[in-house]
Amino acid sequence: EVIDGGGRILLPGFVDLHTHLREPGREDTETIESGSAAAALGGYTAVFAMANTNPVADSAVVTDHVYRRGQEVGLVDVHPVGAVTVGLKGEKLAEMGMMAAGPGRVRVFSDDGVCVSDPLLMRRALEYSASLGVVIAQHAEEPRLTKGAVAHEGPEAARLGLTGWPRAAEEAIVARDALLARDAGARVHICHASTAGTVELLKWAKGQGVAITAEVTPHHLLLDDSRLATYDAVNRVNPPLREASDVAALRQALCDGVIDCVATDHAPHADQDKCCEFAAARPGMLGLETALAIVAQVSVETGDLTWRDIARVMSERPAEIARLDDQGRPIGVGEPANLTLVDPDLGWTVRADELASRSRNTPFADLSFRAKPVLTVLRGRITARDGVTARPGTEVRA
Ligand code: DOR
Ligand code: ZN
Ligand code: ZN
Repeated sequence: EVIDGGGRILLPGFVDLHTHLREPGREDTETIESGSAAAALGGYTAVFAMANTNPVADSAVVTDHVYRRGQEVGLVDVHPVGAVTVGLKGEKLAEMGMMAAGPGRVRVFSDDGVCVSDPLLMRRALEYSASLGVVIAQHAEEPRLTKGAVAHEGPEAARLGLTGWPRAAEEAIVARDALLARDAGARVHICHASTAGTVELLKWAKGQGVAITAEVTPHHLLLDDSRLATYDAVNRVNPPLREASDVAALRQALCDGVIDCVATDHAPHADQDKCCEFAAARPGMLGLETALAIVAQVSVETGDLTWRDIARVMSERPAEIARLDDQGRPIGVGEPANLTLVDPDLGWTVRADELASRSRNTPFADLSFRAKPVLTVLRGRITARDGVTARPGTEVRA
């Protein structure tokens, strides 16, 4: 089949290092199938499914299951992320080696939604990860500084009477784990960087030769804490929306390569967990179906992020961080490719009830954007086209 690309931008398939698919455990909010559809429609050909499921993905039984289910669905490569500890907030390291060796071939481990606060435990986790050649994705929250916190600690939270989440809760862990990774000869990846101070610490650590990488979410690139004034719980997220000065620093860091990539932290939640008081709502926002539109808007607004850069931050760097090229199937000349075709000027409005996700918690509802992925190709096969997913069967040939 010949695809007319007329006026569109052809990019390598997007890779999301940070997706919550909620299966097993909360299939009412997302499944591997519904999340895969959302990913394909968003231009993704690979997603990394976070470990804070129920049961927690802390053993090869769970990670291999997630991998196999993703293959069955066939819309996107679902790479399971393994938990660093056994259970949520566990005190024992998980059998990372078993997860890395299983069919799910776990290459990324994380404490996201799990939260390893003990520095000695994190040090041992980093040493273990270095021996396996895997990376630890650090949620970066010092829980003793975030007790009861629901919003960024600043004038806006103070005005609204919301308990604040200080920047230091993030930055203390970024600094700590940069040093622990250096000493362990390990790689550490900072999840959802949200403050200007984190950017400075990343510059410092990278300058010292520490093997540290970082991601930023679309929502932290677009929204700030002025959103809180509505008290709409859709804006509650961890880490919280920060101040406009942080947003500017995050944008600059993404353009400069100090922040390596964009990751969605796609976090589906049921209506009843979001349609309540701000402080009682679960933290998290949908991300997969709106990420490219937001990154493209940031590109226009900064004038400093080219389509070439977007390929880097949405696809190449995340694939390198996860060492996807080690996972078999190197993409070479004559190989079927992972591709995303983007219409930079389509013009569209996000409608929460039209999303493929099972959940509706998008802070971008009714906002209009210009760019949208219009075709996604996974290993030579169309997985999404013009807003409709295609299960296995349709073939594209070059
Ligand atoms: O907002 C968030 N939601 N941040 C996290 O770290 C976890 C996530 C979730 O699982 O809902
Ligand atoms: Zn997190
Ligand atoms: Zn997360």
